Order: sequence, then C-alpha cells, then structure tokens
Amino acid sequence: MSARRLDSAKALGADTVGGRTAGQLLRLCEVAGLDTKDSEVYARTLTDMLGAVAERPLDLPPAWPTFLSDDHTPVEFSLAFVPDAAPTLRVLLEPGCGAGGLARNGRTGLRAVRKAARRWGFSTDRLDELEDLFFPPSPKGPLALWCALELQPGGVPRVKVYLNPAASGQKRAARTVAKALRRLGHRQAFEALPPGDRHLFFALDLGDWEEPRVKVYLAHHDLSAAEAGALSRMEGGPSPAQTEAFFRIAAGDDADAAGGDDRRPVRRPVQSCHSFTETSTGLPSGFTLYVPVRDYVRHDGEALHRATALLGHHGLDPAPLVRAVAAVTSRRPEEGGGLIAYLALAHQQGHPPRVTTYISSESYAVRPPVGLLPAEAATAG
Ligand code: TRP
Repeated sequence: MSARRLDSAKALGADTVGGRTAGQLLRLCEVAGLDTKDSEVYARTLTDMLGAVAERPLDLPPAWPTFLSDDHTPVEFSLAFVPDAAPTLRVLLEPGCGAGGLARNGRTGLRAVRKAARRWGFSTDRLDELEDLFFPPSPKGPLALWCALELQPGGVPRVKVYLNPAASGQKRAARTVAKALRRLGHRQAFEALPPGDRHLFFALDLGDWEEPRVKVYLAHHDLSAAEAGALSRMEGGPSPAQTEAFFRIAAGDDADAAGGDDRRPVRRPVQSCHSFTETSTGLPSGFTLYVPVRDYVRHDGEALHRATALLGHHGLDPAPLVRAVAAVTSRRPEEGGGLIAYLALAHQQGHPPRVTTYISSESYAVRPPVGLLPAEAATAG
C-alpha cells in the first residue's frame, strides 16, 4: 500500500487540498476493506474531480466558501454501516469549487459529472432533463452542484448528484422541487412529502444502481424527538418509536430543549430525506433522518460516544469508525468538535436500516470544543 500511496497523494504534497484529502481517502479505503488498486483509482478520481483546486496549498485560504463542510474543505467522507459487511466508504465533493462564482461552479460541476459518465459508461439523461431548473443563468446559493461517490469494490463508483432547489431563489425552491419530481415522472411525490422549513437538496442517483433514487431533503428547525418520529412518509418505513430512539441517541437525551444550553448556541437543522424509486404508488421507498451531531455535543469525544451507542443499538461494530477517525486526523477527539458532522439512520425498502457517520476532512480548520471543564481543557491541550 505505502509505495502506491506515494503515487497520487504524495505527488501533490500533503499540504495541498488534493494531497491531504487523497491521503485521507487512501487510509479510509483500507478501513473499508478496498484493495490497493481500487483505492488508488479512487484517490486519483477524487483529485481529478477537484481539478486545479487539488494542487492548491492549504496555507492559502479556501478557493470558495463552500458550505459542504464547516471549514470549507470541498470534501467530506462518510461510512455507511450495515450488518455483516464492511462499511461502505463514500466521498462527497464539490467539483466546481475552484471555478470562481456560482454559475461557473455549476457548469464545472456538470462537466465533471458528464466526464465521469463517459468514463464509467452511465447516462446523465435524468440530470440533463433538469438542467434549466437547477442551473439558471444567475443562480442563487448556497450551492450549485455536489457529487458523491460510493466507493464499491472494483474501481467503479456509484454516483450521486446534489442540486440546489433554491437556485432560482429560496421562494421558488418548493416549486422547483415539485417541477423536477414531475418531470422525472414522480407526479404524486411532492404531495407525499412531510412539512418542513426549507428544501435543501434535490439529489439523483446516477450510474450502476439497482434502483436509482430521486431524493428530496428538507430542513427541520428545533425539532423535538416526537416531531422527528412523525416525519417518515415511507411505505413500510420506521415506526415513530424507532425514529425517536435514533433521534435521542444521536442528539442526546436533552435534545428536546432545543438550542441555548452549554453545547452549541446555534444548531443546524435536522434534515429528512425521502427517496423515490418508482412512480406508480407515489409514495417514497426510502426515508433518512440526519442529525448534525456536532451541534449537540461539546467535542468529538461525545460525538463518538453517540455514534458508538447508535451502532451498538443496531448491532453494528463501531471498530471501523474508530479506525476511520484515526485515518483522517491525528488529533484527539476531545480537542475539537465537528469531525463527526452528522449521524444518520437510513431506511430503504427491502434493506436493513443503515447507520451513516459523516466524517470531516478538517483540512483547513478544527472547530474548538465548547464548555470544557477546566480539568478537561488542561488534558485536551
Ligand atoms: N455541510 C452542510 C451541512 O452541514 C451540508 C452537508 C454536508 C450535509 N454533508 C451533509 C447535510 C450530510 C446533511 C447530511 O448542512
């Protein structure tokens, strides 16, 4: 492994965006049980998709204030856990982060996805059909296009594309989502969604998926455990009690007292995602709840406890997560808050529930811990 590792990551230097994130990816690939050849392919894919930003020295400020991650690294990792298998490694990235401006960001993103499609021989038809909705001439924020790769054994990733419902303004976001769903043949899908505060992402599976999904993400501010339990609209989905249990483990027992305690004064919203795979029933076949765990803890030591408890609750082995943390950072979890960005529980018809842990690159910055007791602060220093 180490000789190969020299190839892609070290060629760029560990103090560049591409070198740092590719190095993290290579080590995470080992945790996910991918072989050297696949790992090397995926590391190179990551740096290719980042374009010129891959070579950008980390001592320069981020090329673009992306909100993909808190410190504006245009890359985030995640591990998806299912019973009796190695976790699946995924990487989320912003191909247009170096393009200069949101319109160019989007066009660069589209080019990167189409290039990937040619390389791996998949169709971008469904994305092409939506281009006018999500790529207007003067797009609004907060993003243009993100791309996620699920790193399967074999060197061919499964691809997901994340689009911005608010591209034509926040006021039009709901209408944009409704139109996009209808265009893809999901005529009743919009009505099936639960109430929410904001449409955050519209996502498409592209490439080699058994059942490619169309996904709609909603933000829910100041959500209580009981409200979380009532969100799923999935047929045969989780019971309110199951979702509440997840919410309490991820957000902590006092999570209902939303905001303003000794943890984080401002909390990002919880997010729901409903996914649609067929057009006949009009009902979603998948439901995922995302808790921004980093806003519900003082530091990553607590976030890791939550993640471990959650995995344990589902009979899943937390060892790969502990190894993953060591693969991305040498700092102690207690020394910062935000390495574990989200915890999620995903339900998909015909599959066991999946626990997902989102792992920040922290290439630019570590968010300091909050509310440490003096004694803890002393040992954390
Ligand atoms: N960083 C953004 C956020 O915290 C977007 C994001 C990155 C995100 N990874 C995510 C949102 C995983 C939900 C789940 O909202």
